[in-house]
Parts: sequence; structure tokens; C-alpha cells
Amino acid sequence: MKKLSLTALAAPLALWTLPGAAADVDAGKAFAEEHCGECHYAEDWEGESADDIAALLKGVKTGDLKHKSGEPKEMTDTDIANVAAYWATGGE
Ligand code: HEC
Repeated sequence: MKKLSLTALAAPLALWTLPGAAADVDAGKAFAEEHCGECHYAEDWEGESADDIAALLKGVKTGDLKHKSGEPKEMTDTDIANVAAYWATGGE
């Protein structure tokens, strides 16, 4: 039993830390709803590609693009990839 539960825990963790792993739409949704949902909805970004959104997010993070709130500056590269992937779905 113990071995089973350890495996169940280790598998998602291994995926999570895999370099270059595909962006996690669910994690992006959770992050965006918590930190950005007050002002942004996924539908607002409909038609934009994840790459385009990620480029905007990076611009906001580095300060190249002006942003009203400080929140996006706290995003890690992983957060950016996840949120971009989620917003690119248009909330579907
Ligand atoms: C308090 C409201 C508010 C919150 C919270 C907020 N934003 Fe924004 N965001 C705005 C407004 C308003 C704009 C339009 C541009 C401007 O006036 O700053 C904007 C624009 C943007 C843009 C486009 C920038 C450009 O120049 O095209 C991006 C990307 C963005 N926000 C990302 C985020 C992310 C990611 C979060 C969460 C971590 C977030 N925002 C949280 C209000 C907010």
C-alpha cells in the first residue's frame, strides 16, 4: 500500500518538474483567477495565440509594457507559460 501511494504522488511531481514540460492550463486558470481575475477574463484574449500572450506577459513582467497593477511582475516563467496557455483557450 505504501509503495502504491508513493508512486501516485511521485508521478505528477516528476511531470511537474520536467524541463520543457507542456504548459499546465489548469494551473494557469487557478493563477489567473486568483491574481488577475478581478480585471481580466480568458475571453478577453480570445484569438490570441499562447505565444503572443506569453510575449505580452513577459513585457509586463519586465516593465517594457506599462501595467496598472504590480501583480504580473510576480509571475515566474512557469506562471507565464501556464496563464498564456489558459488565456489562449479563451476560457473553453
Ligand atoms: C486591478 C486590475 C488589473 C489586475 C488585477 C490585472 N490587470 Fe492586467 N491590465 C489591466 C488594465 C486596465 C490593462 C490595460 C492596460 C493598462 O492600462 O495598464 C491591463 C493590461 C494587461 C496586459 C496587456 C498589456 C499591453 O500593453 O498590451 C497584460 C498582458 C496583462 N494585463 C496581464 C495581467 C496579468 C497576468 C495579471 C495577473 C497576474 C493582471 N494583468 C492583473 C488591469 C489589471
